Amino acid sequence: MKNDKVLIFDTTLRDGEQAPGASMNQDEKMAIAAALEKMGVDIIEAGFPVSSPGDFESVKLVAKTIKRSIVAGLARSMKKDIDAAYEALKSAKYGRIHVFLATSNIHMKFKLKKNPDEVLQMAIDAVKYAKSKMADVEFSAEDASRSDRDFLCKVVEAAIKAGAKTVNIPDTVGYTVPSLFGQLIGYIKNNVPNINKAVISVHCHDDLGLSVSNSLAAIENGARQVECTVNGIGERAGNAAMEEIVMALKTRKDIYKCETNINTKEICRVSRMVSKAAGFAVAPNKAIVGGNAFLHESGIHQHGVLADRSTYEIIKGEDVGFVGTGLVLGKHSGRHGFCERLKLLGIQLTEKQIDQAFDRFKILADKKKEVYDEDLFAIIEDEVKAVKNIWSLDSLEYKSGTKVEPSTTIALKSGGKVYKKTLTGDGPVDACYKAIDAITKVKGELLDYSIKSVSQGEDAIGEVTLKLRSKDQTVIAHGASTDIVEASAKAYINAINKILTVK
Ligand code: KIV
Ligand code: ZN
Repeated sequence: MKNDKVLIFDTTLRDGEQAPGASMNQDEKMAIAAALEKMGVDIIEAGFPVSSPGDFESVKLVAKTIKRSIVAGLARSMKKDIDAAYEALKSAKYGRIHVFLATSNIHMKFKLKKNPDEVLQMAIDAVKYAKSKMADVEFSAEDASRSDRDFLCKVVEAAIKAGAKTVNIPDTVGYTVPSLFGQLIGYIKNNVPNINKAVISVHCHDDLGLSVSNSLAAIENGARQVECTVNGIGERAGNAAMEEIVMALKTRKDIYKCETNINTKEICRVSRMVSKAAGFAVAPNKAIVGGNAFLHESGIHQHGVLADRSTYEIIKGEDVGFVGTGLVLGKHSGRHGFCERLKLLGIQLTEKQIDQAFDRFKILADKKKEVYDEDLFAIIEDEVKAVKNIWSLDSLEYKSGTKVEPSTTIALKSGGKVYKKTLTGDGPVDACYKAIDAITKVKGELLDYSIKSVSQGEDAIGEVTLKLRSKDQTVIAHGASTDIVEASAKAYINAINKILTVK
């Protein structure tokens, strides 16, 4: 018997972008949309057009460019939202208006301040209005998992009757558990008379770490579309991770008897792209796309894998586009293994540079049990392609307090000259960064900033680590001092030197 198809609805550019701290620029969104299309995503939710002019523009641009995937735009059940979604999507080859309305008692009472009959009517009106503009309409019953089942079924039935081709059952707050969610989908399938006229979709959040399990339970019970994001990024704890759902369906076809249109070999590439654009590192132990996902450290495991991969591998790294031999380097690794690893990572060095890097690697391997790809990148960046000290800190003064406007005066040295600037900002660090930008003329976008103490006592040294993006380059840099503004300045200057060195 042929396997059923599960449609992949990717919402990285909408729900994913709602993740606190993740904001992508338009070029990054376009590149991600193109990569999602290439990997075979069926529906790309490109944004929430009414929410901001920037979102409107990026949905419009994605809609104009993407030709194989359906492009969806989100809208509340309101005319102005639906109009904005339609305007942004009208040039799409395949466009979808995705309207949503909450159906749980909590949301109806406290957020919408409407009774169930009013909500039912709003859903019908919204779907009908969207349908008058576009053939493909999806309806989402927000907070469905906490809604009264029979009311939910009534709304779903009415939405299908009004023209929705897809009905989405979100676990908006990540509250459900697999057994319950599976039952809910089964209940909808058995109790909504016209359910066969629509695709059942699910959209699960990860507040209890169950989003992927809940989505899979829904598939077992008849859902045929899953809404998910790359690396699982999204509101709060995030959404169900696309790569995990896709690989679970592929690896356990015996259970699910379903397949997707995803070319899994693209998974790691798209994961890296989203991680870089959102500024969210992927945890090394993250399933499918984590740096350790295909590495074997213990001798017993390494031995087993070398004898036959199936001993400790259920997925082949190359099936998800993972680059590597799967073996971590350590102090017993030789020059040959080291060079092979560099080659696999696409790092090209001269013989002299390899000698230098290998020496550094040996020193590090003596201190550290395992040497990871990130360590190799750091060795290459710091030791071989030595960062040129184009700018260095000459002096720093700052002023801040509860009743003064924070300002910083910084003097930087370059080519024997000293350049000085005083600027104000939200705090002394912000003022300092603005002044450094003004002097160096490198416009950096700060993606991440953290400070930690690396020694003890009142005069502890603070180490600042930051991630800075300038055009298409992202660098990570550090700076340490007993004065946190100075540590921040040093880290920022280091980042700028890295950017200028590579240039
Ligand atoms: O989590 C949610 O309920 C949503 C809807 C808008 C689909 O993101
Ligand atoms: Zn959501």
